[in-house]
Amino acid sequence: MTKKTLVLIYGGRSTEHDVACRSAAFVYRSLNRTKYDLHLVAIDKTGDWYPQTDTAKWEMEPASLPIHRDRKNNAIVQHPTNPRDALAALCGLEIKNLSDCIFFPMIHGVSGEDGTLQGLFELAGVPFIGPDTLGSAVGMDKVVAKRLAASAGIPVVPFVEVNDETWAGGKESICRRAIDLLGLPLFVKPARLGSSVGIKKVKTPGDLPAAIEQALEYDDKVLIEIGLEVREVECAMLGTTRAKPSVVGEVILDADFYSYEEKYAKNSRASTRVPADLTPELTLEIQKLSGRLFEVLSLYGMARVDWFIEKKTGQIYFNEVNTIPGFTEVSHYPLFWSKSGKDGTTLLSELIELGLHRAKIKAALKREV
Ligand SMILES: Nc1ncnc2c1ncn2[C@@H]1O[C@H](COP(=O)(O)OP(=O)(O)O)[C@@H](O)[C@H]1O
Ligand SMILES: [Mg+2]
Repeated sequence: MTKKTLVLIYGGRSTEHDVACRSAAFVYRSLNRTKYDLHLVAIDKTGDWYPQTDTAKWEMEPASLPIHRDRKNNAIVQHPTNPRDALAALCGLEIKNLSDCIFFPMIHGVSGEDGTLQGLFELAGVPFIGPDTLGSAVGMDKVVAKRLAASAGIPVVPFVEVNDETWAGGKESICRRAIDLLGLPLFVKPARLGSSVGIKKVKTPGDLPAAIEQALEYDDKVLIEIGLEVREVECAMLGTTRAKPSVVGEVILDADFYSYEEKYAKNSRASTRVPADLTPELTLEIQKLSGRLFEVLSLYGMARVDWFIEKKTGQIYFNEVNTIPGFTEVSHYPLFWSKSGKDGTTLLSELIELGLHRAKIKAALKREV
């Protein structure tokens, strides 16, 4: 069997660009190079693709992958006439080598985790890691994901949706209705973002309009939800549509909420307890619900499913799912799997095999009547 090449696409036109470069470094460090070759393609913040050809002098253990803007090998396909050739050209790959490649979109958030890049992979007919176009798009959208979860009987924190049009049509009435319906405090968040970017905890009615305006700067769809006193627990999923759960971990905070700084800053006081201090029954419940959610949202391969446990009542709520979860040195997805007995190298190999497995199933589907 020919050696497969993992094409790692990282960076991206997203607010989480820098996090993605750190996540990509995990793959760079952990990939089993005797089993797989690695080809790197960086997408910069303007959306331009740069195959990384001169990696020989790169550090062995980088904390973050750099982006070199050097196009010398980027014109192998001169005039692409289909998405497959276009993808090869963008990635600086020869078309004949594409059949031995599997793609890993290490881009968090917009333009990488939201189904758009997955759509390109599907158009090009190449294997890739993580959920497909549908699962990625659904998982990225907090409103749609919550509605699907709720329709399957999985509890979600009550929320209202605002978009740029409804907001322009009646700011005061939207704020009044949200507070009447949901009370205070509230959480205001962009519908399709991550890493807590654009999120505000609102404690007084006067702060609500500015929080909504700020969230609308990041996305034209926004959620306002009840701010609860919660414990935050997470479960990492790995597998086919019937994926397996990892141990459950808990985020321990000494802050108002799990903000961008608490997630990534050096002086963050947040820590992670793995496994979480939960009864065996509650752990099993979170794992079961994570599996159910994975199926309900049409996910495949991997996802980290995040839950709230309301402190006062013990009620479990689905919060959100991350279909390209962080892979940085402080990220939970690889950590939970290492605590579940899978090191980074094994985890990556399994993710690759899952992507190849799905591609085989898709390739066998009839395209003609
Ligand atoms: N309804 C809520 N009640 C209490 N805390 C919340 C609520 N929604 C969000 N948070 C806090 O904000 C953080 C980020 O929100 P989340 O919905 O997970 O967005 P992101 O995709 O950016 O991680 C959560 O980890 C939690 O600390
Ligand atoms: Mg979150």
